[in-house]
Amino acid sequence: MGFREKFKNADHALTFNDVLLLPGWTTVEPSDAVVGSRASKNVELNVPFISSPMDTVTESEMSIALARHGGLGVLHRNCSVEQEVEIARAVKRAEALIIRDVITVRPGSTVDDLLALMDRHKIHGFPVVNENDSIVGIVTWRDLRLADRSLKVRDVMTKEVITAGENITLEEAKEILHEHRIEKLPIVDGKGRVTGLITMKDITLKGTYPEAIRDEEGRLICAAAVSPFDIERAKALDEYVDIIVTDVAHFHNRNCFEGAGRILKEVSADVVVGNIGTYEAAEDCLTKLEDVAGLRVGIGSGSICTTSVVTKAGAPTLYATSQAADAVRDYGSEVSVIADGGIRNPGDIAVALAVGASCTMMGNVFAGTSESPGRLVAIEGRYYKEYYGMGSAAARQKRFAQDRYSRPSKTVNEGVEGWVPYRGSVSDIVAEFVGGLKAAMGYVGARTIPDMWERARLALVTERGSEEINPHDVILPGSKRP
Ligand code: XMP
Repeated sequence: MGFREKFKNADHALTFNDVLLLPGWTTVEPSDAVVGSRASKNVELNVPFISSPMDTVTESEMSIALARHGGLGVLHRNCSVEQEVEIARAVKRAEALIIRDVITVRPGSTVDDLLALMDRHKIHGFPVVNENDSIVGIVTWRDLRLADRSLKVRDVMTKEVITAGENITLEEAKEILHEHRIEKLPIVDGKGRVTGLITMKDITLKGTYPEAIRDEEGRLICAAAVSPFDIERAKALDEYVDIIVTDVAHFHNRNCFEGAGRILKEVSADVVVGNIGTYEAAEDCLTKLEDVAGLRVGIGSGSICTTSVVTKAGAPTLYATSQAADAVRDYGSEVSVIADGGIRNPGDIAVALAVGASCTMMGNVFAGTSESPGRLVAIEGRYYKEYYGMGSAAARQKRFAQDRYSRPSKTVNEGVEGWVPYRGSVSDIVAEFVGGLKAAMGYVGARTIPDMWERARLALVTERGSEEINPHDVILPGSKRP
């Protein structure tokens, strides 16, 4: 191919700003639309929203909130393996039919130790077990309220513990909790060893969040990011997470494929790979890797990305989604396609779905919520939350300080640091985005997300046209010019 041909053969790397959804004949009212979709081969969500693995976006609070509202959080990896595992455990411990990962204490521990444990795990009661692991008491925050810190657990615990066997039903457990006015019911085996814990809180929560995505044991679904080279992290997380997501800017790379191949062999969680941006990359993921459960697509579109500025390399999320989704369809595969980066509103989500996305991943949108770990700051009377790219100087510095497995393979920063407007709780954002997405589906005439794939048609917008699409010829509050 001559050099000049490269212009002729250049693809149109369209972005969210370049397209509109065409309204179609519809029999669907927005309230009829169903927005459930697949996050990976084995995990179905009730809303197609996933939060980015970034340390200003997703830790346990975000994951818990999103899973309760039908979505999914992907824990960031900008920390040690132990810290990421601890965060995943906190998500899994937030709710359960029967908590299996029960934290117990010894009668000889001090009240002081106990308070530290409560603070660390954010839980308020522990079964007390002896050296044979048999239950001898239970201690909750009520027992500690006025206790001297140097007292021993045996001095303050309740010794007559009400327990139940493995075969208890949830209804029976509820009755016992009610009857005895207690909050926690330890489950024990024939030798009195604690094998689980049923709590009043979990029973109540089950009714409070009907849209929640839970595993077979009633625990919230959780996903976590790993570097494709970090097999140890993937193995350590495998016990606690449902999905492992590789987290690298350009996954279509021999070393990344080799690393992910090892992870895929070693873990039982679903593995989502990415990021990728082309049909060929998706094709290679489907044919050269075994058991991939999803594709994370989009390179350079993120609101904090400078990849395409610094390197001129990129595959905008909308373009990348259509490429990957075509490969998935051509190969008759069931993997999910997660459109990642550049999404600002429900309309962007609707067009991502129109070109084959199963779900969307958002950093900026969720960074502004109260559940994100970023700092809240006031600037000129308005509230903002800190948000920075994982390739930014701030994130890189933190990673190399905390994670001995990280590989500083690049010498340039590919992200920026800044603030996003504070926008309330995750539940508000989910409600707003579900409303907007359902309205878009009503315009298209799509009842479900697979209907969006089939029915949605796009129109291209010119640069002049986009001025007309946005509010114009009015003075908006806060703007300086008409
Ligand atoms: P939004 O637009 O939702 O994008 O803020 C979030 C996605 O951006 C990616 N990401 C980065 N990309 N440099 C990049 O080029 C970075 O520093 C960076 N940090 C995050 C990531 O895919 C995320 O989900």
